[in-house]
Amino acid sequence: MGKLALAAKITHVPSMYLSELPGPQNGCRQAAIDGHYEIGRRCRELNVDTIVVFDSHWLVNSAFHINCGEHFQGIYTSNELPHFIKDMSFEYDGNPEFGQLMQEEISKTGIRVQAHNIKSLELEYGTLVPMRYMNQDKKFKVVSVSAFLTSHELEDSRKFGEGLLKAIEKYDGTVAVFASGSLSHRFIWDREVSRGMDSYTREWDRQVDKHVVGMWKNAQWPEFIAMLPEYAEYCYGEGGMHDTAMLLGLLGWDQYDKPVEIITDAFPSSGTGQINAIFPVE
Ligand SMILES: [Fe+2]
Repeated sequence: MGKLALAAKITHVPSMYLSELPGPQNGCRQAAIDGHYEIGRRCRELNVDTIVVFDSHWLVNSAFHINCGEHFQGIYTSNELPHFIKDMSFEYDGNPEFGQLMQEEISKTGIRVQAHNIKSLELEYGTLVPMRYMNQDKKFKVVSVSAFLTSHELEDSRKFGEGLLKAIEKYDGTVAVFASGSLSHRFIWDREVSRGMDSYTREWDRQVDKHVVGMWKNAQWPEFIAMLPEYAEYCYGEGGMHDTAMLLGLLGWDQYDKPVEIITDAFPSSGTGQINAIFPVE
């Protein structure tokens, strides 16, 4: 019987990569990077063998998709932000066996889901950035999930999370699950780019994010779930906030009752709201 050892909502901002390099952004995202190191350390402590990432940069227009390739290796440049992430090398092992199990169990919830082991199906940076800080030594196998869903209901992403829990229970191993996406996501207007580097685009989003983080700290899950569709809509949720819906589906939806543990305090980046927060499991 497998185990869900750790669940978290995590940032993946490309300025973490810039933060490593010499230049004006050097050091600017150290707190976020340290948060990833800490989450990686906890995964090691809990004997995690596989990490599942809900990647809000993997856009799909139809069905749910799982990238469970055997091995991922290459040099990545973001086509969204090539001036932020350029020539970033990566190498991780995948877990095709667990990806297949995910497909079997998640499809029982009634949603359309496909697992893929295709050499040319590449990872997006919602997966690659966190793995850079948590998994440099290839300790963990990586399975990536499409979470930029253009035609999908949040209720179906909840089912994805519920099915994933069943797959973990049938798996012979220990799994961590990350929702890799932002809080609010009104990306900074291009003409105001320098202002946006370390501030929110709109005060509205800053205030709502602050309120939401307070709800998470107080375990107000039924209320948060009730506002999730409007939060995603009015605060430009990254990928429609499907990563968050999947995470809460995994954890029991409105029956989830634990306060989050903040690993990196909420911070703005390119106008958007970001956080590293562990969602405690039994
Ligand atoms: Fe993003």
